[in-house]
Amino acid sequence: MLTPCDTAFLEALAEELPPGTLVEPSPRYLEEPRGRWRGQAGAVALPRSTPQVAKILRACHGASVPVVPFGGGTGLVGGQVSGEGMVPLVLSLERMQTIRAVHPAENVLIAEAGVILADVQKAATGAGRLFPLSLASEGSARIGGLLGCNAGGVNVIRYGNARDLVLGLEAVLPDGQVWHGLKRLRKDNTGYDLRHLLIGSEGTLGVITAASLRLAPQPAAQGAALMVVHGPEAALRLLALAQAQLGDAISAFELIGGMGLAFLGETMPQVRQPFRIPPEWMVLIDLGLPEGLAPEAALERLFSEAVETDLVSDGVIAANLGQRAEFWALREAIPEANRHIGSISSHDISLPLSEIPAFIAQAGPALAKINDYRINCFGHLGDGNLHYNVFPIPGYSRADHESERDAIKACVHDLVHGLGGSVSAEHGIGRLKTADLVKYGDPVKLAAMRSIKQALDPRGIMNPGAVLA
Ligand code: LAC
Ligand code: ZN
Repeated sequence: MLTPCDTAFLEALAEELPPGTLVEPSPRYLEEPRGRWRGQAGAVALPRSTPQVAKILRACHGASVPVVPFGGGTGLVGGQVSGEGMVPLVLSLERMQTIRAVHPAENVLIAEAGVILADVQKAATGAGRLFPLSLASEGSARIGGLLGCNAGGVNVIRYGNARDLVLGLEAVLPDGQVWHGLKRLRKDNTGYDLRHLLIGSEGTLGVITAASLRLAPQPAAQGAALMVVHGPEAALRLLALAQAQLGDAISAFELIGGMGLAFLGETMPQVRQPFRIPPEWMVLIDLGLPEGLAPEAALERLFSEAVETDLVSDGVIAANLGQRAEFWALREAIPEANRHIGSISSHDISLPLSEIPAFIAQAGPALAKINDYRINCFGHLGDGNLHYNVFPIPGYSRADHESERDAIKACVHDLVHGLGGSVSAEHGIGRLKTADLVKYGDPVKLAAMRSIKQALDPRGIMNPGAVLA
């Protein structure tokens, strides 16, 4: 049985912490980017150190007070806002912003949980290295939350998910014990890997306080191109061609659908569109090359072979880094345009690469049986992750389709599941997809997850309602 984060609890906790550690919950801790949930909180705790996090969790565990860990607040599945059940303590790591060490020769950087992703990237660059995790919210997302959610982003095709960039963790377990696991090892076979349990646990098994992160060499040259493809099938064949020519140098391979360009034109006309007639499908290819290779030449060769084999009908290769940044600005503006239009239901899915054309071909007609919608399909084609978002047609709003949301979601997710895909690729389960996890999850895995939760968090204080409802 949980108890609320009430005045008596907060007064007792305040005595153990420096003044100013517990503050009133300002609105930003109770909101999330898509405006679907509103959270509640007795207070927000802003610890400055791991021992302070440990004190907070020990007290919460002792009194069975729920805790909602909070990073940058950029999550898209409601994992950071608890609007139902006992009033929790929100635990924000934002004051733990120290980069504790950089080891360029080892390609390792150690950052506290509250460091903003862009600052980790800058610190890596400053040391002549690359921290390759990259996503639209990198200016506000924090390392702890990114690891807690195993974030993906645009460079997964080359560098993997957040999980793949972690060598070790420091974390506080739900009862307040500190795990000192900031190893800098590439090989460490010493039993169960607690690191990989905590990564992607979305704050339900403990609180990450610092991480030992893997860096990569900086590419000597970067380049990008937008290419108009005949469709998803052609895009995949272009990917195979690009990989045959360039191998690992492909840092990102993004699919952009015509609806996204239409939404941009409608809601963000300031974003420059590269083609006079917006194509139905295009891809953004990003390259990072070692010394001695010119990205423009590599992309021109790819383009001409793709035109010859009839995969691509048009294209533009960035002439310089400014133009490359423009291509990325267009890509990263799509989610914002989506928010202006207001989706009825958004889906973050992954599929085996070869099933993607079948999924796209089937999903539209299946949804059309429910009602008329606009679909914006875009995302990280190179790693099989699509964002498949469903919008009202002009003249209607998402409120008009409220009653159809469950049917839309089931339609998309049934199709994905049937094709061997996942109903949560990179955004997590949060509070949005707890029922989907049960519906589509393997029962043996779910039972093991519940056993792990019970073992590490027997009182169920950690982010109740997220992941396992
Ligand atoms: C993106 C977010 C929605 O890829 O994941 O833009
Ligand atoms: Zn994405």
